[in-house]
Amino acid sequence: MKTHITRRRFIEAGGSLASLAFLSGGQRALAAVPGNPEAGPGDGSKAQAAPKLAPRFGDGRDWWFEKRFGMFIHWGIYSINGWHEQDQWRRRIPRAEYVKLAQRWNPVKFNPNAWLDLAQEAGMQYLCVTTKHHDGFCLFESKHTDYNSVNTPYGKDVIKLLAEACHRRNFPLCLYYSIADWHHPNYPNQDRHHELPPQAGDQPDLDKYTDFVKAQVRELCTNYGEIHGIWWDINVDKRVDRSMSAMIRQLQPKAMINDRGYDEGDFGTPERDFTSDGELLVSFEKRTEACQAVGSESWGYRAEEDFYTDRHLMRSIDKYLARDANYLLNVGPAPDGTIPKPAAAILKRIGKWYHAVKESFVDAVPCSQLTTNRDVLLTRKGNTLYVHLLKDPITDAVKLRPLARMPKRATLLNNGQPVECSLAMVPSGHKEQKGWLRLRMLPVNELANTVLVVKLEFETLEA
Ligand code: GLC
Repeated sequence: MKTHITRRRFIEAGGSLASLAFLSGGQRALAAVPGNPEAGPGDGSKAQAAPKLAPRFGDGRDWWFEKRFGMFIHWGIYSINGWHEQDQWRRRIPRAEYVKLAQRWNPVKFNPNAWLDLAQEAGMQYLCVTTKHHDGFCLFESKHTDYNSVNTPYGKDVIKLLAEACHRRNFPLCLYYSIADWHHPNYPNQDRHHELPPQAGDQPDLDKYTDFVKAQVRELCTNYGEIHGIWWDINVDKRVDRSMSAMIRQLQPKAMINDRGYDEGDFGTPERDFTSDGELLVSFEKRTEACQAVGSESWGYRAEEDFYTDRHLMRSIDKYLARDANYLLNVGPAPDGTIPKPAAAILKRIGKWYHAVKESFVDAVPCSQLTTNRDVLLTRKGNTLYVHLLKDPITDAVKLRPLARMPKRATLLNNGQPVECSLAMVPSGHKEQKGWLRLRMLPVNELANTVLVVKLEFETLEA
């Protein structure tokens, strides 16, 4: 039996009101008054009302709110050159030359179970894989183009192998599909963004091309068992065609559809984890799945990749998972089918961190409105609060004004060590002549390349 309350029960029980019970009458007023002059330096914006959660569907798509951390895979013939998934376009490789890569595609070490083992070690709970990127090469067998992984020395349907492995372990599989296409003769390449200049011999025809897309997505939704999502990319023409989603929903009712396709879809996709309007939100009120790669320059395999620091990635993951959003972390497998060692090592380190702190995300609701401290994020599960040290800590303490209550237990989830707490007045708080909850002597130097998460267990929520 679960010992915590679920999100829904929390909301039904009036979670936001209960959370205000943490605060004394005066503090409640402080939380409610915009731009309160009592807010000291470093406090950032004022405390706010409890945020709404992103709307749930009440249907099969709600798997997505249970499994929030996914693996993103960019893989295709571009990996052979080991530079970037948009190699053909960014290095101006003539189409006739680029297509020859297909004849060298032979990922003899491809083992979908090894990918999934790594994903699970990293704490990931679903997978999203490129079935066709902008180069037009398909990792699946298709009646509608020969430019696919079956017609290569490898001779196999990569998506089929992956789907079978995912189904064996009930691991949701989502399929990325690029609308921009540098190979199909009907795609209107016009030198716009993510497009080649017009190609001799092409017959640009957006209607015909859209029929092709629909036929291929029908194959993807028909030939691989249960699919949990279609992840569109790059609709240069911004063409709207609601029949696409209708078809996907009819064939795959659990499929989440992103917002880069033919309509607004089910969720937003801040890329490289960045959203201009979302940086300061206490929680995402719209369904959101951020995506980010372990390498800073490419989503596909890059031999000389420049990798992000663990801390950058952990902060990035934390700032979405702690705000009711999902997160896809991408790796680009090498041409032999293996996940490159440095990328795999990053995922393993992320996994150690994720598994240590995951209780602060799973079934927890965003609760940062309880403090004015914008250097941290709070999540909450029943009487337990989790403090995520999202920004680089500049001291070894965290002040949680206006919380003024001692927890019965405080634990640093990263290493299981107890954390010292105090309600003593600090010199810089002399104006109020009050003390607020303060976490002390955190191992900020010893654990510098990580995101610290502190668990605070309170006796009760009542004041
Ligand atoms: C961009 C890039 C593309 C990549 C995608 C992942 O749209 O064009 O190469 O697949 O981001 O979000």
